[in-house]
Amino acid sequence: MPHIPVLLNETLNVFNEIPSGTFVDATLGMGGHSAAILRANPDLDLLGMDQDTAAIAIATENLAEFGGRVRIVHSNFSNIANVTRESGVENVSGVLADLGVSSLQLDTEGRGFSFRFDDPLDMRMDTASGGETAADILATRSEAEIADIIYLYGEERASRRIARRIVERRERGEPVTTTGELARLVAGAFPGKRREKIHPATRTFQALRIAVNNEIEILDRFLLDAFDLLTHEGVLAVITFHSLEDRIVKQRFRKLTGRCECPPRMPVCVCRAEKRGRLAAKKAIVPTDEETRSNPRSRSAKLRAIVRIDN
Ligand SMILES: C[S@@+](CC[C@H](N)C(=O)[O-])C[C@H]1O[C@@H](n2cnc3c(N)ncnc32)[C@H](O)[C@@H]1O
Ligand SMILES: [Zn+2]
Repeated sequence: MPHIPVLLNETLNVFNEIPSGTFVDATLGMGGHSAAILRANPDLDLLGMDQDTAAIAIATENLAEFGGRVRIVHSNFSNIANVTRESGVENVSGVLADLGVSSLQLDTEGRGFSFRFDDPLDMRMDTASGGETAADILATRSEAEIADIIYLYGEERASRRIARRIVERRERGEPVTTTGELARLVAGAFPGKRREKIHPATRTFQALRIAVNNEIEILDRFLLDAFDLLTHEGVLAVITFHSLEDRIVKQRFRKLTGRCECPPRMPVCVCRAEKRGRLAAKKAIVPTDEETRSNPRSRSAKLRAIVRIDN
């Protein structure tokens, strides 16, 4: 299946008037957004980052036509400040983060992101990181911790029942180690007829992926670091796929626009709100009906963007 960049026109629009300089794509993926941005803005160079070496290899090929305008670094975007400094980049005119998992990751056998294949439960975007896999989490965390992950990151109401089954198996000496086992175990936690359009394990898989890759914990710090890199009138744009992520982006951007967030009864402002940016759009930008019809993965996408003005 060809990769379709989510909210592509909307993303091109928010970067339409950025100053010349370097554009940082913090989640390069297959380079779909980046190629379109380079094409639309001839005076921009690209610094692309991804923590997945498979994505880096494909993006390198897909962006070859742009020659010396493109540099690609294998890194987690939590290192964005170091990576830009070490690359000698001085004027960052725009930063894009298109969060979450790529269709490449979901569609590749062996990675453990999808129950369409029977794979070891890995789910690390950065397989070189030596970090915990999804199987490690299910083997080592307490039942309550597993339930919390599934509830919080998957918005799964049956989280406790699922966690119970996972730990029961572990206690029997048969820990869940493959995508197939996990998908069957979750399906078995929903007795009776299913009326859902999606497989009942979708939410549990999403939750584990978010936990394995620390997706929520690193987001707010990244937003601040990325914003701090921007030149005057530079733009930071983020596409989220989960309400927890969108809330973090919304709150951080609001704070950067100087909105006081003190409780209403506070006599003076103590949150030290400082106006450093303006929102490119008041509300989150969401896909058109046409896009959600042609690309179901765009369903939950939300784009927010902020323009830096304090420098
Ligand atoms: C939704 S895809 C991006 C697709 C891309 N915009 C395109 O058009 O091809 C997300 C990508 O971000 C990467 N990624 C997710 N979190 C990351 C992080 N913390 N640091 C670096 N890369 C990350 C994933 O490996 C994946 O390749
Ligand atoms: Zn305040």
